[in-house]
Amino acid sequence: MSTIDSASVKAVFEQRSMYDAVVDGDYMFHVEINAAFGEWARAFGRPLRIVDLGCGDSGVAARGFTDAEVASYVGVDLAESSIAEARRSTAAWSDRVELICGDLLDALQQLPAGSANVVLASYSLHHFSTAEKQTLLAEIARVLEPNGALLWVDAVRRNDESRDEYIAALTSEVMDSWTALTIDERERACEHIRTADFPETEAWMMEAIAAAGFKVEKTLFREELFRGWELRKRQR
Ligand SMILES: C[S@@+](CC[C@H](N)C(=O)[O-])C[C@H]1O[C@@H](n2cnc3c(N)ncnc32)[C@H](O)[C@@H]1O
Repeated sequence: MSTIDSASVKAVFEQRSMYDAVVDGDYMFHVEINAAFGEWARAFGRPLRIVDLGCGDSGVAARGFTDAEVASYVGVDLAESSIAEARRSTAAWSDRVELICGDLLDALQQLPAGSANVVLASYSLHHFSTAEKQTLLAEIARVLEPNGALLWVDAVRRNDESRDEYIAALTSEVMDSWTALTIDERERACEHIRTADFPETEAWMMEAIAAAGFKVEKTLFREELFRGWELRKRQR
């Protein structure tokens, strides 16, 4: 179980309207992510066995993999309202879907080794401590088959940027630019960021990725505050 206050994280995401407005406003580059995931799936060219960590409403998987063959989909999220929405988003994959309402590290540890060929971690791992992220990466490597892919999208600090500096930059951006959210929603988003976001530097992420047995295959997108990569589990 995450050591971060998961009850407060859950409370934020149970009220879906705020994060829905973030996605609809494309403030965290979901349009780019959906396109990158779709392109990735076409190039991968095999039926997907997906594990989606912090799946939310499964919109990223459902939109990114509309044209892909999905052999199995396991989505995990803390928020019951997100899981209910995820059930609707993934209806086309019917009996190949398993949705788990709970902590993603606990769920990951229960999954069999080699049971996935793609793990999605889209804006969920920054809610874990540094040590937990290392455990998560090792568990993701265990659950992936050799040459399987981790699509990791997250809040990322510049190498010379402290957490406080990153939080100041992101909360300014939210208050100034995320205008599809009400002022109250923007303030709640900032409070959530201050208490529950623990982004790492890109240098730390690259080291942790290599230590867990992954290599960077491709940069999916790169923005000032958010980035995404396709990582491949090395064949041993
Ligand atoms: C910023 S949203 C991202 C949702 C979606 N993956 C996306 O990219 O839009 C983070 C999600 O992670 C979930 N989450 C955060 N911590 C979690 C944990 N410890 N276990 C399971 N889900 C978690 C939240 O409930 C929320 O739905």
